[in-house]
Amino acid sequence: MAERIGIYPGTFDPATNGHLDIIGRAAGVVDRLVVGVAVNAGKGPLFPLEERVEIVREEVRMLNNNAASRIEVKPFQTLLMHFAKSNGANVIIRGLRAVSDFEYEFQMAAMNRRLDVSVDTVFLMAAESQQFISSRFVKEIARLGGDISPFVSPRVAQHVRRAIARGGDAAKPEDDGIGTTIPAPAGRKPI
Ligand code: COA
Repeated sequence: MAERIGIYPGTFDPATNGHLDIIGRAAGVVDRLVVGVAVNAGKGPLFPLEERVEIVREEVRMLNNNAASRIEVKPFQTLLMHFAKSNGANVIIRGLRAVSDFEYEFQMAAMNRRLDVSVDTVFLMAAESQQFISSRFVKEIARLGGDISPFVSPRVAQHVRRAIARGGDAAKPEDDGIGTTIPAPAGRKPI
């Protein structure tokens, strides 16, 4: 049987326990997983792209299900479907948290399928305990001095604290060159 290669794309600004849960489980359903860290300038990320990639790599190394050797973490600033194609992927994996995620994900999956019918999108339900996590709230809680330890690893928490101390949103929005911003329904940020 042909090797199943999956892409798990996201902004990962920063990677939360919710993302790590999906990465670990996604690695269980494909032979090789590529975690694609999108430049996503439209979201005005706190962390520059390279740092988001480094953070995800660090977290993947700490996964305790022996999957790390089958997971690669790469940045991308192209169309997701072009990135999928260039990695030989046959499936896109996305996490679904709540009903509010559905419409946005449904639209994105449908658009992507129109771009390339050979790559399907598969959804994994976010773990019950992670349903409410969002990177945006993690950053907001940290900025306002709250405790983010239930939502991110101690390593990620340290990155967030450092980024906020060095000027918070001062991270320059990166130019993805393709104007990817499309409206997102409540609960999802624009992509
Ligand atoms: N548990 C908890 N939280 C989760 C989660 C999980 N399992 N999965 C996602 N989230 C949260 C994230 O923290 C994030 O929170 P935020 O909005 O507060 O930052 C939110 O859900 C969504 O983030 P993420 O899963 O990282 O995806 P995204 O919507 O930021 O990224 C891309 C979308 C990268 C897939 C999309 O922009 C893309 O494909 N870009 C490339 C350009 C392209 O091809 N565009 C055409 C698309 S049709």
